[in-house]
Amino acid sequence: MCGIVGYVGPRDAYPIIITGLKRQEYRGYDSTGVALINDTGLHVFKKKGKVAELEQSLLGKPVNGNIGIGHTRWATHGEPSDVNAHPHQSNNGKLAMIHNGIIENYAQLKSELTKKGYSFKSETDTEVLLNFIEDIQKNTQSPLEEAVRIALKRVSGAYVILLLDQDNPDTIIAARKGSPLVIGIGKGEHFLGSDATPMLEYTKEVVYVNDYEIAIIKAGELILKNLGNERQMPYISSLDLELAAIEKGGFDHFMLKEIYEQPSTIYDCLRGRLDAEKGTITMKGIQDNIEALINAPRYIIIACGTSWHAALEAEYIIEELCRIPVEVEYASEFRYRNPIVNKGDVIIAISQSGETADTLVAIEKAKEQGAFIFGIVNVVGSSISRASHAGAYTHAGPEIGVASTKAFTAQLTVLMMIALKIAKEKGTIEQSRYIELLVELENIPEKVDAILKNGDLLKPIAQKYKDAINALYLGRGYNFPIALEGALKLKEISYIHAEGYPAAEMKHGPIALVDTNLPVVFVATKDEYHAKIVSNIQEIKARKGKVIAIITEGDDIIPAMADDVFFVPPANEVVAPLLSVIPLQLLSYYIGVLKGCDVDKPRNLAKSVTVE
Ligand code: F6R
Repeated sequence: MCGIVGYVGPRDAYPIIITGLKRQEYRGYDSTGVALINDTGLHVFKKKGKVAELEQSLLGKPVNGNIGIGHTRWATHGEPSDVNAHPHQSNNGKLAMIHNGIIENYAQLKSELTKKGYSFKSETDTEVLLNFIEDIQKNTQSPLEEAVRIALKRVSGAYVILLLDQDNPDTIIAARKGSPLVIGIGKGEHFLGSDATPMLEYTKEVVYVNDYEIAIIKAGELILKNLGNERQMPYISSLDLELAAIEKGGFDHFMLKEIYEQPSTIYDCLRGRLDAEKGTITMKGIQDNIEALINAPRYIIIACGTSWHAALEAEYIIEELCRIPVEVEYASEFRYRNPIVNKGDVIIAISQSGETADTLVAIEKAKEQGAFIFGIVNVVGSSISRASHAGAYTHAGPEIGVASTKAFTAQLTVLMMIALKIAKEKGTIEQSRYIELLVELENIPEKVDAILKNGDLLKPIAQKYKDAINALYLGRGYNFPIALEGALKLKEISYIHAEGYPAAEMKHGPIALVDTNLPVVFVATKDEYHAKIVSNIQEIKARKGKVIAIITEGDDIIPAMADDVFFVPPANEVVAPLLSVIPLQLLSYYIGVLKGCDVDKPRNLAKSVTVE
């Protein structure tokens, strides 16, 4: 969702900005633009469409200069168009601004400015905020940073903004509230991004700007202030990310690369934490807060999308192993209803990006009620990781494909370790079962690898069902959240409408959809419900539905009744979701590719959902 890039220093800003925008394409966008200042003044170029199209259109244009900002826009106010694309220019033509977020009180500001004679070219809230800043600058005769500070005190909503001022051609003004902003510190130069990807080859030193901070950035100087105009000390963090991690590495798509990375990402997640031989799980965030965690009357897990599916899986596992009641909440619902958070309740927030606006606000809301927040996050240094009291990183590395794959399995891995650790400390698991599950978890990377080696077997299945209009995904117990996740993946990647359901619940409605054209995907690995799910398959077959089943090697019952099967290695049912989800990811991928869909950047979707 909207990406921002900026540069000020001795180099040519334009190539850095274009490369940075391309690296942030995964965030999701529909239009793009850059603003640069050079000897001939301030230049703004913007366009609906891809960064490469903008780049093509700028051949031969005056894109030189050592200071600039760039943007990828994901439309909120106003349709995707050249005019609504950022940067916007203020009425006097001197200021250019890009914005990520939503200004909620823009309508009121717009009407005030209109009365003063301001006009607006676009339908965006951004252009309103920009002219509001210009108006304050004009009325107070104050420097731009001061005008920005005054304006932001009147603004409600979320934002990251970057501004260029033709009259101050050596400075970028930036500010954030609720959307990410990273500043890379080079030698006599600064880089800006929504994440660290635009600056990877230039610096490993970054500052994660906090909410309500304004940055005044010149080539060799960075000043941070809060909205109260007090100087803040920039906290410099070290980046642990290499360029190779954000490149495709020979795969056709990031999504496929990330699916195939899972043996190593799950391994990386376990590494240094789980030792089956010694019978230990070492997780500092858990250890340091063990009393709060084992004595909690209840866990509330908040998340969105795929991360919400990981949360649901955690409910099954934690209740089973730790005997602690768990509630799973959509962050977007939790933040707006009036939830009861009792003393001692632990909030677990799960997020790949660590920037999801709803999850972030839900955390703040729970904090207001005195809750202890445990974050499970992939992106190091992200807002949710910083807003949590304690947490565990998933160590899946950068996930560029918009549809979450390796981050999901890393979330499950972390959650399984947490459940096992707490169960052990709480004394709710027998030693033999504990060790058995540690060994099972330790063996997962190898089994995922075995599944991926057979990945091509899914291609003919994808070919057979690619033209389906609808699909149903069914699973029971630990495989129910995986059915939901499989359906979500298919929807996102191939635009086929898909629903996930508990297999038995199917009789209460969705069975009406079953006909000869409906593919029904059963997640039916060997577990205590196997006989039940066999009955559900028969119910579908009796109505001539097409059954695709993900089953355990050695199962000789389901192949006799299903139309298509894919085998996964045997595993204990607690850890089996880490296996059964892999063929579902691949199936969606192959169907999406066959249908010619943009699998890495599905339409309308954003990787980092920084608006509510
Ligand atoms: C689906 C997907 C989304 C995200 C959701 C939450 O493939 O990626 O549903 O899971 O937007 O994002 P995070 O985990 O970054 O909070």
